[in-house]
Amino acid sequence: MENEFFISQINSLRLSKNAVIMAHYYQIPEIQDIADFVGDSLALAQEAEKTTADIIVLCGVHFMGETAKILNPQKKVIIPDANAGCSLAESCPAHEFKKFIKQYPDYKVVTYVNTTAAVKALSDITVTSTNAKKIIESLPQDEKIIFGPDKNLGDYINSQTGRQMLLWDGACHVHEQFSLEKLLKLKSQFPNAEIIAHPECKKPVLMVADFIGSTAALLNYSAKSKKNTFIVATESGILHQMQKKSPDKTFIPVPPDDSTCACNECNFMRLNTLKKLYECLRTEKPEIIIDEAIRAKAVKPIKRMLKMSAKLIK
Ligand code: 13P
Ligand code: SF4
Repeated sequence: MENEFFISQINSLRLSKNAVIMAHYYQIPEIQDIADFVGDSLALAQEAEKTTADIIVLCGVHFMGETAKILNPQKKVIIPDANAGCSLAESCPAHEFKKFIKQYPDYKVVTYVNTTAAVKALSDITVTSTNAKKIIESLPQDEKIIFGPDKNLGDYINSQTGRQMLLWDGACHVHEQFSLEKLLKLKSQFPNAEIIAHPECKKPVLMVADFIGSTAALLNYSAKSKKNTFIVATESGILHQMQKKSPDKTFIPVPPDDSTCACNECNFMRLNTLKKLYECLRTEKPEIIIDEAIRAKAVKPIKRMLKMSAKLIK
């Protein structure tokens, strides 16, 4: 009943304000279902770049809102909860990253989009898990590269490309805590299941995975695969779209090491609710504000990524 009220209010507010609602795959199902667009980090950036809406409501985490704002300085970008941060972005404070890259002046700085605007402003190119491998491969073989902040993704790309990128020591608290032991137990219970994993997971989990990819890649893979059961090692919000795309298939989320918590859910992503989405559309707050000097620098690596992606990802 309460949800019906929020849904009808959200629908009329987005129309009257010419607002577009974009949501990441890790959002709660109710938000994914009401969004105009649901996607992975790359698709959200691509959609933000081309939107004609006056207001962008980014239902995800703070850095996603920042990316939309960096690309749209003239538009209002709002988010349902200003506290929806990201442990991976937090693992890379700009002042420390600046000191680190200063030691390697002849290195290209490639950063995952899970970073603050200030870190993007220090970067040459940003990447997402959808395009990271292709973008790194497209750089000259002898290019020296610093990659941050996700050491697991960086290590995975090094192993796939033969590069020896210098890695920042950062990680996502959700993807780091999947239990290999419980994953293998699930595999023995469901021997025909395929293990699919996000590259933010630790190496032992990636080593037993049948397929590794971004949220969008995992979703498409599970829809196309001939298998019927999937053990999914990423934030469990993605299961909503997987189940929608493949209603006859079975998706099993990998449990965390600590069985007393629901920590295969990102506590930041889960801060957003329909009520907060309604409130933020009504009040047009909280709004993403970025210092113009930082924004002007941060837009360059993002634009570079979008241009390279258009060429490299068909
Ligand atoms: P992708 O949606 O790009 O795969 O990223 C996952 C993620 O960690 C978002 O926070
Ligand atoms: Fe950040 Fe991890 Fe949450 Fe993604 S799942 S938003 S990387 S903390």
